[in-house]
Amino acid sequence: MSATTSVSNEPMNSSSFELRNPATGVTSELPVRSGTIGPQVLDIAHLARDQGVFTFDPGYSVTASCDSKITYIDGDAGVLLYRGYPVDQLAEKSSFMEVAYLLILGELPTAPQLQAFSDSITRHTMINESLLRFFNGFYHNAHPMAMVSAVVASMSAFYHDSMDIYNPRHREIFSHRIIAKLPTIAAAAHKHALGQPFIYPRNDLNYCSNLLNMFFAVPCESYEINPVAAKALDLLFVLHADHEQNASTSTVRLAGSTGANPYAAISAGVAALWGPAHGGANEAVLAMLEQIGTVENIPKYLAMAKDKSSHFRLMGFGHRVYKNFDPRAKIIRETCHEVLAKLGRQDSPLFELALRLEEIALKDEYFVSRKLYPNVDFYSGIIYSALGIPRSMFTVMFAIARTVGWVAHWLEMISDPAMRIGRPRQLYTGPQQRNYVPIALRKR
Ligand code: CMC
Repeated sequence: MSATTSVSNEPMNSSSFELRNPATGVTSELPVRSGTIGPQVLDIAHLARDQGVFTFDPGYSVTASCDSKITYIDGDAGVLLYRGYPVDQLAEKSSFMEVAYLLILGELPTAPQLQAFSDSITRHTMINESLLRFFNGFYHNAHPMAMVSAVVASMSAFYHDSMDIYNPRHREIFSHRIIAKLPTIAAAAHKHALGQPFIYPRNDLNYCSNLLNMFFAVPCESYEINPVAAKALDLLFVLHADHEQNASTSTVRLAGSTGANPYAAISAGVAALWGPAHGGANEAVLAMLEQIGTVENIPKYLAMAKDKSSHFRLMGFGHRVYKNFDPRAKIIRETCHEVLAKLGRQDSPLFELALRLEEIALKDEYFVSRKLYPNVDFYSGIIYSALGIPRSMFTVMFAIARTVGWVAHWLEMISDPAMRIGRPRQLYTGPQQRNYVPIALRKR
């Protein structure tokens, strides 16, 4: 704490810390709250009332913004659990639809429950024809994340009067609609960029097969969906489905906490995901690998990544929470081997380069001492590329999967009777109060 305030090192008892301000002599107790697993948290809700100070934590590195039952990360051990289930078990045994059910409803479904859930999602895949015409307003080279964010935001105009956020049935319809329509919107953005006709969703296909069909089918010839591609996409979606209070999820929660239309809140999440420090890294990794080009160039680019005067960072490396291997990156790396082999692309030079880059970086003192490991975005683009998905669509793929997490978190927040608007404070460092000077009297 500051020079005038101190926190004793020892907890006063197992459930609170004593905080004493030496300047005023005022003491107060800060309750320590325990979750089911993970570090305890200091409850500072009454700190300003009792001590007249706020906390300062730019980037929210040590701030728990809410309690949540959805996803748990142990960044030191490299563990990720969805509703308690390890992500590697889900990746091996489950499916994206089952994981969506789990994240949103809290338990693994029975077979009839999963069927009913998937059927409902399938029946919501079409989008209003007027919404489809929005794409004509975008230039052919508009970035798909901009199109997807804008079109998702405009869904709030279609479903505003029929959306009462306090009505559980309305919330359920919203959640099925947005999960169902994201692939359709993404495919429309892709087709718009190509100048090809939009392909309508097909209800006889599962979630990922339908997505591939909408992306790659054309009206003039039949398109055969490759089951290897559909399975690989499903796995990537399982791994990207949720990641607790990351920047885009926190954005959805913050926007949603005002009572805003949830489609608008999801659109804000898409916008937050786009940045290269977050989901946009998958696109940036491929650009970086192409820029590096050959193994011989790796040392030069590693030196640039370590040089603080350069803006270059090793994209797909490092994570705010993981200080060990990102468990998702490990699974995706293994899947790369399998998928590339099955698609006859085992000689992918970019994958070879990525493997070598990882190997060299993980022996480098800079990356070792900072615990910078490959994250989920390091290898995902290699699989997307092998499936024929263009680089500019990679983050859209991430957004489709993460919509499930955003929905789960929005639902958890909105159905909590204790929900309050999210409203951080600041340490003001601007001018003190001063008087207005008429323009004729101002000197510079
Ligand atoms: N390349 C080079 N140096 C790095 C990198 C990197 N990729 N990541 C972190 N560092 C350095 C950073 O310069 C700092 O060094 P120093 O202590 O000397 O100042 C130290 O490591 C700690 O980094 P930080 O910026 O304080 O860490 P953060 O938690 O604020 O940032 C991060 C996390 C993911 C934004 C960052 O690691 C990064 O920019 N990585 C590259 C982009 C990326 O791959 N993003 C995807 C994240 S995972 C998927 C997702 O979130 O959607």
